[in-house]
Amino acid sequence: MKELKILLSNEKNTLDLGENLSAHLFEGLLIFLKGDLGAGKTTLARGIIRGLGYVGSVKSPTYSLFEQYEFDAFTLNHFDLYRFANPNEWFSSGFQEYVNSYDVTLIEWPEKSAELLPKPDLEIEILYENESRIVIINPFTKKGNKCLVNLS
Ligand SMILES: Nc1ncnc2c1ncn2[C@@H]1O[C@H](COP(=O)(O)OP(=O)(O)OP(=O)(O)O)[C@@H](O)[C@H]1O
Ligand SMILES: [Mg+2]
Repeated sequence: MKELKILLSNEKNTLDLGENLSAHLFEGLLIFLKGDLGAGKTTLARGIIRGLGYVGSVKSPTYSLFEQYEFDAFTLNHFDLYRFANPNEWFSSGFQEYVNSYDVTLIEWPEKSAELLPKPDLEIEILYENESRIVIINPFTKKGNKCLVNLS
């Protein structure tokens, strides 16, 4: 399947896309969230996590680097690697254990550990477009394809 490109006019559109996406997630998915500072990666993650039924506040993992949410169908791991000083922190923090066949994992700033990370099922990139955003979603695996086909 080709990439999906969607205009997100405001924050609500980003949250709604996340909620929409949440209905098509299944265990074992690895999703990269890319885009400049403040592009909306955490906002999208928040939409996903709320869409899955989490009612508390969804914190940005900017400082904690990692937040985890338990749902009936799977556990969701939300990483933000922005503060990594060295790509190897992915391994020294033991984070690689969270990428497995049963959790869903979202990674903001995957560029920070680039080639050390496994290939994602989906890569979601958010670009600034004046006051709005454009999101580009690319599947890299069959699992990613399956998720995206259902979404579109
Ligand atoms: N589609 C949109 N159009 C305009 N503003 C948006 C849109 N989506 C999100 N925003 C706003 O952009 C900002 C994005 O903040 P957010 O923390 O989600 O960015 P981020 O990509 O996670 O940044 P960081 O790289 O620091 O982690 C928020 O103020 C949010 O309200
Ligand atoms: Mg963020």
